[in-house]
Formats: sequence, structure tokens, C-alpha cells
Amino acid sequence: MNAIVAVCSDWGIGYQGALLVHSKADMHRFMELTMGGTVVMGRRTLESFPGGPLKGRKNVVITHDPEALPGGVVSVDSPVAALEAVAADDPNRVWLIGGESVYRALLDQCTRAYVTKFDVERPADAFFPNLDEDPAWQVESAENGGATTKGTHFSFITYVRQ
Ligand SMILES: NC(=O)c1ccc[n+]([C@@H]2O[C@H](COP(=O)([O-])OP(=O)(O)OC[C@H]3O[C@@H](n4cnc5c(N)ncnc54)[C@H](OP(=O)(O)O)[C@@H]3O)[C@@H](O)[C@H]2O)c1
Repeated sequence: MNAIVAVCSDWGIGYQGALLVHSKADMHRFMELTMGGTVVMGRRTLESFPGGPLKGRKNVVITHDPEALPGGVVSVDSPVAALEAVAADDPNRVWLIGGESVYRALLDQCTRAYVTKFDVERPADAFFPNLDEDPAWQVESAENGGATTKGTHFSFITYVRQ
């Protein structure tokens, strides 16, 4: 399993249920990498998608109340149950997509983290662990992503767990 996330320079990822920065290039990359695979997420992240479950992917959603979730998703009641739900899937095509609680619970199970890093800080109430300060993770590759329409520069950084 790999994680994929978009962070600001302080590793903020969200505020009041929404993303902090919008970038078409980042969305496109997320789509390309995850399409046809499995995405694992928390219930709040599912609710942040305007169109509901992500099309063309198996959606595994963690919640304390699996019965309450809409159809079209595999609902599970714990991070461990999410791992069981993806056990038969190709691990290179299983993506941990957030939010904070789910990243914190399952990041240890990930081989790589595909991080889009925006060169800006925004008020945030959800964060991704700072991989630059964690000796378990090292930068494998870094690529300039360009800039958003509002002029925020960003990079695509791949971290690998040692
Ligand atoms: N920048 C990015 O790449 C990115 C990616 C994803 C999300 N985000 C942002 O992150 C924020 C959401 O993060 P979040 O941490 O608040 O929410 P979340 O992780 O998406 O979902 C939290 C919910 O997941 C369920 N859950 C979590 N741990 C559980 C456990 N151990 N057992 C059972 N259920 C569990 C609970 O659902 P129930 O309440 O239903 O029990 C919990 O309320 C939003 O602002 C979103 O936009 C950013």
C-alpha cells in the first residue's frame, strides 16, 4: 500500500473538512495514479467528495457505523479491517488517501508516500505526519510540479520507508 497526500509547507492537509489548496495538475496526478486501484479513506474524507465515492476505484471506507454509509463502497469498522479488505488486492495499487486519522493509523503499513508539497501555509486543522523529521522515511525522488493558477509553487516528492 502507498499513501498519497497534498500538504502545505507545515504539513497541513485540511481545514473544516476541505482541502487547503486546489491544483488541477495535482488532481490529475491523483486520478492517474489511483485509477483502477483501491482507495482507503476515513468517513469524513468520503463526505468531502462532492460526487460521492471515487469512480473506477474500489472505495474502502473506515467508520464506526458501517451500516450508515451509502452503497458503492466497502465499509469497514477499523483500520485493521481495512487492511483485511485490501489483502487480496495488488499492494502497488492500494492507496491510502486520508484524512489525518487514517493516515496516522495506517501510514506504518505504507511502502511509499506520494506527497504533493505546496510552497505555502494555510490555516489547517488536519495534518499529515512530517516525514522530513521521521528517520523512517527518506526522499526517493523530487520533481518540480509547476504552479497553481494562483501562483503557488509545488513539488511532487516521493518518500520511501526504510
Ligand atoms: N490534502 C490531502 O491530501 C487530504 C486527503 C484526505 C483528506 N484531507 C482532509 O483531511 C480532513 C479529514 O481528516 P479527518 O482525520 O478529520 O477525517 P478522516 O480520517 O477522513 O475520517 C475520520 C473518520 O473515519 C472514521 N475512523 C477513523 N479512525 C477510525 C477507527 N479507528 N475506527 C473506526 N472508524 C474510524 C470515523 O468515522 P465515523 O465518525 O463515521 O465513525 C472518523 O470520524 C479534511 O479536511 C479533508 O479535506 C486532505
